[in-house]
Amino acid sequence: MKFEKNILCIGAGYVGGPTMAMIAYKCPRYKVTAVDINPERIGQWNSDNLPIFEPGLDKVVRACRGKNLFFSTEIERGIQEAEIIFVSVNTPTKTFGSGAGMAADLQYWEKTARQIRDCAHSRKIVVEKSTLPVKTSLAMERILTDANDRIHFDVLSNPEFLAEGTAIQDLETPDRVLIGSHETERALEAREALVQIYANWVPREKIITTNLWSSELSKLAANAFLAQRISSINSISALCEKTDADIAEVAKAIGMDSRIGEKFLRASVGFGGSCFKKDILNLVYLCRYYGLNEVAEFWEGVVRINDYQKSRFVLNMLNAMFNTLAGKRICLFGFAFKANTGDTRESPGIFIARELAEERAELVITDPEALENARVDLEDLGKDVSYLVDPYEAAEKSHAIAVITEWELYRALDYDRIYRSMTKPAFIFDGRNILDHRKLFEIGFNVFPIGKTPLTHF
Ligand code: NAD
Ligand code: UGA
Repeated sequence: MKFEKNILCIGAGYVGGPTMAMIAYKCPRYKVTAVDINPERIGQWNSDNLPIFEPGLDKVVRACRGKNLFFSTEIERGIQEAEIIFVSVNTPTKTFGSGAGMAADLQYWEKTARQIRDCAHSRKIVVEKSTLPVKTSLAMERILTDANDRIHFDVLSNPEFLAEGTAIQDLETPDRVLIGSHETERALEAREALVQIYANWVPREKIITTNLWSSELSKLAANAFLAQRISSINSISALCEKTDADIAEVAKAIGMDSRIGEKFLRASVGFGGSCFKKDILNLVYLCRYYGLNEVAEFWEGVVRINDYQKSRFVLNMLNAMFNTLAGKRICLFGFAFKANTGDTRESPGIFIARELAEERAELVITDPEALENARVDLEDLGKDVSYLVDPYEAAEKSHAIAVITEWELYRALDYDRIYRSMTKPAFIFDGRNILDHRKLFEIGFNVFPIGKTPLTHF
């Protein structure tokens, strides 16, 4: 079959894989290939056991894999054949040299730009899908055009706004698709080619176009705003715990103001995930670079409150459990950074597990999807941590349960049975406020929610 367009994505991770799968699913006339330097990952994309857990992803991949969706390690060939190349490689926080701990590490992204330049034999549209600092596309253009004037490259910015756990839904019905470009005739032509791809399933009014820099900055700003809401509600949760106000009631009351809105106001043990912290630190770094220290400090506060919330959670546990956790068995319900994903990157669970281990607690971790990642994250803690799929087994003989991830299954457990199997007095620290606290208290638990008065039998 002759395909109408040939699309490539370099980087088959949490973004590249699902995004390409959705394009292939919605556009059977296009050939879509995702390539990666990691052969193991590509092997998994080509197997029944996909490398990431994402509700609905299996169905989409199965519908088009081998027909118009391909996963491969043949990057050079992919570049040569494609007209449109998405770049979705990782852009983690730099861990070395200037800007360490703040700036984005652009080495993977730059290697990709050079590889595209070296392998391309024909005109290409290069689409930045990774989250990048503002003005990165300028560097991309410089690398691509240097020594290669014979081939024309158009660089577009098309940041991804999907959230893990709802990636398929977010890709299928996005709030908006953002495309940034230059305003030259050729650049507008390239932009229109990308608009056309999305227009196969996204209503035209939801596809918005801007200049390149606005597009790059909007992605960082969107994540910063979202994370800021969580830090705002979490900061108020600390005050609720001191004043007998209830964070759920406060969130409802303020969220009903249509100017504030109800979403993203769930107090928690802190936000995690691979991007919020990384992107805010990147934003902070950029502000400092441009001499905007007050702006930098404002956004840095969002990360500071998040760290505070995680520490506070552990300190509350310590205080409630008579100021010693040594030798006590503590069970973490959930380890993923949010429900419906196996991803544990920057999960609050990592910090909390380490702090509890520092207090010499004995840890048991249960999670329906993230145990494999948890083992890797906590490898250095060795035998002090055990990993059990069954939450009932995990809770047995524990002194306390700490809810880290808001998995639906934790709401529906038989807590009478769990209470009977635990060491007394039994504690529950609900880091997500998903459980029926009154009922747990009546069963006999000492209950410590986030941002609410504890219910204790002492
Ligand atoms: P990821 O680590 O899951 O995937 C990146 C992939 O790129 C890896 O499989 C890696 O092997 C591959 N890679 C690295 N260098 C390569 C190279 N030179 N050639 C080919 N492949 C290469 O990362 P991710 O979570 O998919 O994030 C990718 C980008 O998207 C980041 O910039 C991130 O900020 C952004 N983003 C992520 C999410 C999310 O939910 N995870 C959402 C929106 C945006
Ligand atoms: C987030 C954004 O929501 C996406 O739009 C963006 O594309 C993505 O980052 C990215 O750039 O990587 P994600 O991190 O996958 O998506 O998940 P979120 O639903 O945003 O949750 C992030 C963290 O905040 C989780 O730990 C979650 O539990 C926590 N959270 C979320 C709260 O604590 N309270 C809330 O009310 C909402």
